[in-house]
Amino acid sequence: MSEETSKAAEIADKWRKKRGSLIMALHEIQGIKGYVAWEDAVMLSERMDVPLARIYEVLTFYNFFKLVAPGKAVISVCTGTACYLKGNDKVLEKFKSELKIKEGESTPDGMFHLQCVRCVGCCGLAPVCVVNGKTYGRMTPEQVPEILEEWKKAFKED
Ligand code: FES
Repeated sequence: MSEETSKAAEIADKWRKKRGSLIMALHEIQGIKGYVAWEDAVMLSERMDVPLARIYEVLTFYNFFKLVAPGKAVISVCTGTACYLKGNDKVLEKFKSELKIKEGESTPDGMFHLQCVRCVGCCGLAPVCVVNGKTYGRMTPEQVPEILEEWKKAFKED
């Protein structure tokens, strides 16, 4: 567990069982990291006993909350059963080799962060990857360089 994630776990424990405390916990986590990462939302859900869907409802309702680190493309490779069976492990390998990082890591320039996530809810499009909320379905390893180029261009235009 990274130092930031263990702080987020402490925050979840602190606010557990206090009424209306979810927003306070999310505020504190964002205060540390600048955003609320997928793994923090999952951890809050488990530790505070709040459904993940409810946490995402709050995160997307308030503009204040950010789901990705500022200026960073977060690549989420779905490792749920449907996506795994359709070969997302090869897509993940391609992202790793193109970016020269492992899952859970960011590129040295901070532009890309690679993570594995559980089912993102669109198994019909398996294998699926999500980059900053944009879904890419029926992924093949060949698409990986195109997607990286797309996001590099998007950052240049900002
Ligand atoms: S298993 Fe990947 S979207 Fe459901």
